[in-house]
Amino acid sequence: LFDGQELLSQECQDFISSLPKEKSITLQPLYQYQGFWHNDRCLLALISTQKHFEAQDSDVFVVSNPKCGTTWLKSLTFALLYRKQHPVTAQNHPLLSSNAHDLVPYIDMNLFYDNKIPDMESFPSPRLLATHMPYVSLPDSIKNSSKCKLVYVSRDPKDAFVSLWHHGCNAGLHDLNSSMEEAFEDYCKGISFYGPIWDHVLQYWNQSLLNPQTTLFLKYEDMKAHPALHLRRLADFLGCPFSAEEEESGVVDQILNLCSFDHLIGLQVNKTGVSKWGVDNNVFFRRGQVGDAKNYLSEEMIKKIDGITRDRFSGSGLLS
Ligand code: A3P
Repeated sequence: LFDGQELLSQECQDFISSLPKEKSITLQPLYQYQGFWHNDRCLLALISTQKHFEAQDSDVFVVSNPKCGTTWLKSLTFALLYRKQHPVTAQNHPLLSSNAHDLVPYIDMNLFYDNKIPDMESFPSPRLLATHMPYVSLPDSIKNSSKCKLVYVSRDPKDAFVSLWHHGCNAGLHDLNSSMEEAFEDYCKGISFYGPIWDHVLQYWNQSLLNPQTTLFLKYEDMKAHPALHLRRLADFLGCPFSAEEEESGVVDQILNLCSFDHLIGLQVNKTGVSKWGVDNNVFFRRGQVGDAKNYLSEEMIKKIDGITRDRFSGSGLLS
């Protein structure tokens, strides 16, 4: 479908216009593909990734629904996985001068964007990449023919919604006539960037139960409550556990401090920098708290979204 620039626009337009479409509160309409909602450019990038991306056994993917803690998990995974090349306390650690989204790109939204076929050979091994793609849409080579690892972070949908709303406002992604109430109604119906969040979370949760060696499921709230515990889980899962010497010398806390919200938000690169992909780094840091939804949503809205979460997750084991 996407081979050749000439064919691209007409065939893509025909394909996209055959899909269910919703206006939503974003400036661009959303299209439903494989059960999830995407804008047209992200959808083309997703399909291009499905078609062209070849996973390697050593690949590691940070995966999430938007606003669930991706920036934090990208930072932690980068610091952890590359701690031999980049000692955590080094004055020139890459996370001090680059935002995590530059260091850990999205395969679809960054690399296979705009009909580009990137040179994946130039990445250091193991390759650390990211995606918001739902499990159902992952390239076959990730799902079936490689032993690559997925680390997924989920978050209470009501906090993810509030975070997404602010992100959209700060990054200029919303139709200015739209209200938070409209956005909320759409979100509850699943009509949001990579929504429905509930299906997204459930697909990866089920994968983590089926294949615990290749999918690690983390919750933002648990990570906030017990960061060291979950960083050690991540290290064990990725096959780079902390040695006794590292434990002794405090590497766990060093990584947590390097990647903490308070540290990252204060760095010049995150205050004023713009990522390679043209996004202001500061939009990825807001409050970094659990339960912020109560400051923005009415009791009725909270009751509604919590009810959906309870219904959708009941029986899955996710609510415990
Ligand atoms: P809030 O908007 O609730 O503050 P994502 O990285 O998936 O886009 O998610 C962004 C959310 O994670 C934002 O939540 C942001 O403030 C929070 N966040 C960013 N960096 C963080 C960190 N180092 N620790 C904890 N939360 C972080």
